[in-house]
Amino acid sequence: MRRWIAAVLLATAGQAPAQDTGPVHDAPYVPSPVSTVDEMLRLAEVGPADVVYDLGAGDGRVVIAAAAKFGARGVGVEIDARLVAQARARAASAGVADRVRFLQQDLFRTDLSEATVVSLYLSPNFNLKLRPALLALAPGTRVVSHSSGMGDWQPDRRTAIRKDVLLWIVPADVAGRWRATLGTGPQARKLELEIAQHYQDVSASAVLDGTAALVWEARLRGDRLSFVIVEHLGTASESGLYFEGRVAGSAIEGSVARGVGSRRAVLGWRAHR
Ligand SMILES: C[S@@+](CC[C@H](N)C(=O)[O-])C[C@H]1O[C@@H](n2cnc3c(N)ncnc32)[C@H](O)[C@@H]1O
Repeated sequence: MRRWIAAVLLATAGQAPAQDTGPVHDAPYVPSPVSTVDEMLRLAEVGPADVVYDLGAGDGRVVIAAAAKFGARGVGVEIDARLVAQARARAASAGVADRVRFLQQDLFRTDLSEATVVSLYLSPNFNLKLRPALLALAPGTRVVSHSSGMGDWQPDRRTAIRKDVLLWIVPADVAGRWRATLGTGPQARKLELEIAQHYQDVSASAVLDGTAALVWEARLRGDRLSFVIVEHLGTASESGLYFEGRVAGSAIEGSVARGVGSRRAVLGWRAHR
């Protein structure tokens, strides 16, 4: 569903008049230094299972490095035919022509649904226009940008080695009310969670077995949600419940560890909206 939305959003963005998207004029050809390309791919933790899309691919250096140094597959999208020809020739001399493709087209009209990593060296304006389509990609997709930010969507990580490199991990949609069960059978416990979300930043409140509980250290990374609830077991005793779960649409499933060290016991938990 999200992938379909991504394609529609991109198609919609591509319908803007040429002077509005400002191809090339808004993001003229300036190649990234080799060390910056390496850092973008390192920060995005690119590996052999990845498909790296470089939007505005220039001479193809990002996708060629992704294939040659990280064993990934790559797709470069570039509007300038001369640069596309150059990129194909460079891929052939690097021996990676079978792992990379170059499409001569407008990046705003590109279907990104197979991308696991999206690489950008564009203007802040282009990044903002792309943002809705990027957020609609599968949770966990990495977006890496040389220099430009993404408005109020703050990066998950950033480094500065010659140039600024910013990394975002597309967050799952977790906002709203969830009803969860911890464990199974007659001992199963009930948890209600209310999650507030701003991109990957999340906070939550909870009711555990009918009693309000504070939620600590709520974190969302792609489709992985984690948080901690402290259970008060009387005046002198309390125990942490450490939740981890994977979000898949309107369900979350994972494990909860009660206690630490030799007192740690692990149960399953599942939640639905
Ligand atoms: C700053 S260069 C980045 C090149 C390469 N990604 C790198 O990091 O070395 C931006 C590239 O985007 C291309 N470009 C600009 N607008 C575009 C559009 N609407 N669709 C596809 N490519 C575009 C330009 O031709 C240029 O090659």
